[in-house]
Amino acid sequence: MSILIKNGEIVTADIQFTADVYCEGETITAIGENLDVTADEVIDASGKYVFPGFIDPHVHIYLPFMGTFSKDTYDSGSRAALVGGTTTLIEMCCPSRSEEPLEAFNLWNGKAEGVSACDYTFHMGVTRFDDDAEKQLRQIVDAGITSFKVFLAYKGAFGIDDAELYDTLKLAKELGVVVTAHCENADLVARTQARLLAEGKVGPEWHEPSRPVQVEAEGCHHLMTFAEMTGAEVYVVHTSCKPAVDALAAARERGVLVGIETVIPYLVLDSSYAERPDFEGAKWVMSPPIRAKEHQDYLWQKLADGTIQTVGTDHAPFDFHTQKHMGHPDADKAVDAQFNPTGTAANFTLIPNGIPSVEERVNLLYTYGVTTGKIDLQTFVAVASTNAAKQFGLHPRKGDVVVGGDADLVVYDPEYRGKISVETQTMDTDYSGFEGVEIKGRPHVVTVRGEVAARDGAFVGTLGRGQLLRRGKPEQT
Ligand code: URP
Ligand code: ZN
Ligand code: ZN
Repeated sequence: MSILIKNGEIVTADIQFTADVYCEGETITAIGENLDVTADEVIDASGKYVFPGFIDPHVHIYLPFMGTFSKDTYDSGSRAALVGGTTTLIEMCCPSRSEEPLEAFNLWNGKAEGVSACDYTFHMGVTRFDDDAEKQLRQIVDAGITSFKVFLAYKGAFGIDDAELYDTLKLAKELGVVVTAHCENADLVARTQARLLAEGKVGPEWHEPSRPVQVEAEGCHHLMTFAEMTGAEVYVVHTSCKPAVDALAAARERGVLVGIETVIPYLVLDSSYAERPDFEGAKWVMSPPIRAKEHQDYLWQKLADGTIQTVGTDHAPFDFHTQKHMGHPDADKAVDAQFNPTGTAANFTLIPNGIPSVEERVNLLYTYGVTTGKIDLQTFVAVASTNAAKQFGLHPRKGDVVVGGDADLVVYDPEYRGKISVETQTMDTDYSGFEGVEIKGRPHVVTVRGEVAARDGAFVGTLGRGQLLRRGKPEQT
């Protein structure tokens, strides 16, 4: 199979120019003006951009969490990713403390293998560190999973203690792999939640005040201290606010190797969404919480100046009417037996944390970043694709438009106009966190290793064709 993409404006993280791209089999084999080749399919890209396939460095597809399971599978999740222009998913493998790392890795991989339509890999969650876990982590790294994930939040579930954090970072340093981290101080969260509940503050609007910016900044400082003392390379996921970004940027100034990620809900939404009445705010409960508008503005500035390297989604899909309602103050009457295993009176602390967005990230970033002039096209490609490829050992196979690279390409139509709706989404949730939001631009054609996988909002690819990617060591961005 060969594809010729003609006359597109090729945009990479470094340059843009008009040319043809020729793909044979799974690979890009020629880039140039007026290529004199024959192809099985010719795609006219005049007036359109040709971007490298986008990479989402932070998704949850299979996630046992807060008494339930995230809603998408690799069937719905990879189709949604591809429709939205994302050709590679990096999923968080999040075992419980009692699960063996290798068993967990095989379980998570088993959910993707033979099902996913796009390529995928994992950040290996370290939720317990002892001799046995260490042996297994070494084997997992040998298999090409070159990043770990730790949680400073969620004590009693995924969270690790400081001794385990230290040991994980030491191992990562020795192996040359990156430790990705959710940075919120779990004890500060627990104490603040308890105080708010004692004051009768039980609705979703109290989620953000229960995890204020100081809680996240403390988590970031904490990790930076450990990274500085061990010399390990780290990457802070879903950074939501100015104090957190500033803590990480200051550590970087001191020589700490730290990548900074933000996620699309923080760039488009603000804290007023979780304050919507009649429990509707639960749709926007995620951690760290979506912040006040001033933080959103700051994140855009820090993306534009290169302080923040990546924009992921933290796609963590839960249905509103059932799963999010586990935290409804009446849930003990309505769905208690099924969804409130704690048996306590329900409140915001029982709302499963997370927002679906794997399908919307690229279009939202383009619409609210590029068309508004907040970021330029090169930055857009860098933060949505190339930087993640470099950070996580996938470049130049992924995240670029180069001869020899995988033919993962997005022919993007900047003239498209539409609105996001649950009625038209591919993701398997009963709501969209971006209902009614306007979109300017969307993928016209999306290819994965030389096969067309999506056209104009519809999945046309092959389930099960996605591959587990064997990754190398990080490259500095
Ligand atoms: O609210 C969130 N972020 N849910 C998913 C789990 C995590 O912390 O990434
Ligand atoms: Zn997290
Ligand atoms: Zn996450």
